[in-house]
Amino acid sequence: MEKLKTVQEERPYCVHDGSELIHVDCACHVYQDGSVGIHNMCFRVLQNEVVALCGPNGSGKSTLIEHLNGLLQPSSGSVIVMGKKIEAGSPDIWRAVGVTFQRSDDQLFAPTVLDDVMFGPINMGMSAEDARTAAIDALQMVGAESLADRMPNYLSGGQKRLICMAGVLAMKPRVIAMDEPTSDLDPYHTDMIEQIILDLKNKHGISVVIATHDLDLAARISDRVCVVKGGSIIAEGKPGDIFYNKELLESAGLKQPKVVQLYENVLRDTGIALGDRPITLEALAMSIDKALTGRQKA
Ligand SMILES: Nc1ncnc2c1ncn2[C@@H]1O[C@H](COP(=O)(O)OP(=O)(O)O)[C@@H](O)[C@H]1O
Ligand SMILES: [Mg+2]
Repeated sequence: MEKLKTVQEERPYCVHDGSELIHVDCACHVYQDGSVGIHNMCFRVLQNEVVALCGPNGSGKSTLIEHLNGLLQPSSGSVIVMGKKIEAGSPDIWRAVGVTFQRSDDQLFAPTVLDDVMFGPINMGMSAEDARTAAIDALQMVGAESLADRMPNYLSGGQKRLICMAGVLAMKPRVIAMDEPTSDLDPYHTDMIEQIILDLKNKHGISVVIATHDLDLAARISDRVCVVKGGSIIAEGKPGDIFYNKELLESAGLKQPKVVQLYENVLRDTGIALGDRPITLEALAMSIDKALTGRQKA
């Protein structure tokens, strides 16, 4: 007789133990026109991690992100933030989870950068003076204090992205979720945003969720990767495990990071395994160095 599967075997990513900062419990979201944004979505954010949601366009990443701070409500299932279920109009969620949108222009509206970054703290009930201090601290965290008096409209795409991050950080969230944080950015601003994300985790203890289809980016900065397909998470794990699973990534409409493609091509063509599954350029460079040294000695 076939063994009955437990819920956890059927939905292995639906595990939770109550210590999560965010627990999305089998959430579905159906938009007004009947389109399904997410379906049976089980997702969690742990303390002190960068978690990447990797999936192609239309897989449900943005819909999930908008559930994390109550911008969208699930049609069924639930979203629990720090032990509290989000209901319509849960005001405290703004404090705990900040979200930055893919299009910075959707977020910026005040006449000056400082006004924009102060808006959240004032909305949370801080005095103007405290809000100003929080805003300046947040601008410093993203290295953009010199832009305080500028008009948001006239900033570059990269600068706008930094101001959006500051606007969210000024509210001192426990988690910040960023939708496609480096899309359309030049390499300078991409590096800057990556470093800020790592600093948020390492220096400020803020967990970060990034939604992206750029697996090279996810490989460089994430601790955990969730593969999103058709509105659900179909696999999750360490970047080294997920990114070496070509079949899984292809089935989700994704391509392996370039470092992994290079590693696998070298292995196929020469039989040389360049170290222990590198996923970043630095790790690959070290592996090549080691492999060459070994060959010279031999
Ligand atoms: N406002 C909306 N109204 C109707 N359907 C939407 C809306 N936003 C997203 N969708 C649909 O929900 C699904 C998931 O979209 P989305 O969350 O934007 O994916 P991703 O961010 O991964 O590209 C897609 O089929 C998309 O067409
Ligand atoms: Mg999106």
